[in-house]
Amino acid sequence: MRALVVYESMFGNSRTVARAIVDGLRAARVDVELVNAAEAATPRGDLVELLVVGGPTHAFSMTRHGTREDAVRQGGAAAAAGSGIREWIDQVHKGPHSEMVATFDTRVGKMRHLPGSAAKAAAKALRKVGYHTLVASESFYVDDVAGPLLDGEEERARAWGERLGATATSRAPA
Ligand SMILES: Cc1cc2nc3c(=O)[nH]c(=O)nc-3n(C[C@H](O)[C@H](O)[C@H](O)COP(=O)(O)O)c2cc1C
Repeated sequence: MRALVVYESMFGNSRTVARAIVDGLRAARVDVELVNAAEAATPRGDLVELLVVGGPTHAFSMTRHGTREDAVRQGGAAAAAGSGIREWIDQVHKGPHSEMVATFDTRVGKMRHLPGSAAKAAAKALRKVGYHTLVASESFYVDDVAGPLLDGEEERARAWGERLGATATSRAPA
């Protein structure tokens, strides 16, 4: 089983989650590569069987240029403001695609009762271009805009990655 994890992150929290997911996938014996959305090439179904996409929730959805600029004004990394998972998904050609897909996001724990989630928006956008989502999207929670991740979230991300790897392996064609 080969996987690609595509992430974006303004303050580093989604990167920490992405790395934990990679650790979990590796524990499930998945061969995985981690790439930043700004640098990731279009996925190829002949190279990976599982695609994991995630990043921060901004304004109840995936980031946009304007929200990333806003994040920079609040101390986020200017180098990360150029492009995110929304733009990466936008450049994927319409399928059907053979890869199984899972999405994650980070968002503020205090706002967990609110519906907006970058992971859900990403799953919807990926389905629209012809991907099959393997599991429900997952959110990991931060304390505030800059983080940090709430206690236990990094471990939860690793466990989610491991379960995802096991599920994907069991669904893959022999
Ligand atoms: C412009 C902006 C809008 C945000 N909107 C939301 C939101 O709608 N819901 C939420 O829970 N968190 C929101 N946040 C907090 C982000 O989700 C938080 O900064 C992110 O999880 C941190 O991840 P990162 O370190 O990977 O950038 C917002 C943050 C910024 C900068």
